[in-house]
Amino acid sequence: MMTNTFFVRPGGVLQGTVQVPGDKSISHRSIMLGAIADGVTEVTGFLEGEDALATMNAFRAMGVAIEGPQAGRVTIRGVGKHGLKAPGRPLDCGNSGTTMRLLSGLLAGQGFAATLTGDESLRRRPMGRVARPLAEMGARIETETGGLPPVRILPSKPLHGIHYDLPVASAQVKSAVLLAGLYATGETAVTEPEPTRDHTERMLAAFGYPVARAGATATLRGHGELSATTIAVPADISSAAFFLVGASIAPGSDLLLPNVGINPTRTGIIEILKLMGADITLENRRLAGGEPVADLHVRHAPLHGVAVPESLVALAIDEFPALFIAAANATGTTVVTGAAELRVKESDRIQVMADGMQALGMVAQPTPDGMVIQGGQPYGGGTVDSRGDHRIAMSFAMAALRASDPLTILHCANVATSFPGFAALAAHAGVRLETA
Ligand code: S3P
Repeated sequence: MMTNTFFVRPGGVLQGTVQVPGDKSISHRSIMLGAIADGVTEVTGFLEGEDALATMNAFRAMGVAIEGPQAGRVTIRGVGKHGLKAPGRPLDCGNSGTTMRLLSGLLAGQGFAATLTGDESLRRRPMGRVARPLAEMGARIETETGGLPPVRILPSKPLHGIHYDLPVASAQVKSAVLLAGLYATGETAVTEPEPTRDHTERMLAAFGYPVARAGATATLRGHGELSATTIAVPADISSAAFFLVGASIAPGSDLLLPNVGINPTRTGIIEILKLMGADITLENRRLAGGEPVADLHVRHAPLHGVAVPESLVALAIDEFPALFIAAANATGTTVVTGAAELRVKESDRIQVMADGMQALGMVAQPTPDGMVIQGGQPYGGGTVDSRGDHRIAMSFAMAALRASDPLTILHCANVATSFPGFAALAAHAGVRLETA
């Protein structure tokens, strides 16, 4: 059933244990690398959300046998690096920028034509950022005017490696270039302006494909092979983020979030919340399949506003909608800068968040590259439009914990792209959430 509207009564306390679903970034990559590996890859903890399923369906359409997902288990019968077949139809990436950008890189060197399309939101997102470096590598890749989808990949001469300086801190662009580099002659290197999530590099290594890292540059050589492996996907810190914020702002809260990925390129949310005074501890730290994980224990704590260090922005890029809600519940001013990328996510997350926050009576001023929030003021209820952006819907659900009146959150169906079962899990933990 499509859950389109969240009705959230004010107040509540978050308590108990919440097992959030698998990491979206790692789930995508497990399918992509498993598909082009030699042998059978077994995945556990796979995110059964629409974005990761779009990636799965794309590889099925290219002739890869994939079983599951069933209770997070997926079996991928790898076809080897040159075993993919031309898809008979455009590949529908749904709402998923990761699917479209990483597939653009992976398909650039295949020698067959493919078209990548997606939903209304995705068709507004910039793809020139991947098309440009891939064209430099010799790919024939076309977009609509302005670099918009659909992306059309045409057979080309063999690709050649490049050294690419990323103009924006983007793990998707970095990954697209590295995946194309698997099919390129010589060395492909990507230098990033700020560290971004390194799941592609780590997972390539897990598939036996070496990636060298020197400072800000990741380098690989083309024409190697990948060998199948097993992958245990940790819980998604970006999904845990809503509960970290909710428990931090709701007095009396005490919540355990088991088995969450704490890759240092993803933990900006924890660092920023701690700068604001949050009480979060990382327990039972361990390594699972090349990725560090821990149980996150969060208790309510009074938060105060901060100037978010720009060095943490890329490490928390998907968590800003939730962080803005934390800031509205913190005493004093929070200033976010250097986060213009938020404007080209599933929605313009600066404008859509500011609109919703102002509708509730929060004091939030959007800026070209961030937001200024005067926190600690009481706020009411009302209607907020998430504009079909999953993370915005879930962030406002948490805002209700401290609102004085009920909230109605519109256009929440896309919560299923990253966090199927969110509404039930949030209600179970203590958010007074009902759906329609
Ligand atoms: C992702 C990278 C980030 C992030 C997205 C997932 C990835 O995008 O926002 O949700 O899996 O590589 P950008 O690379 O555009 O910052």
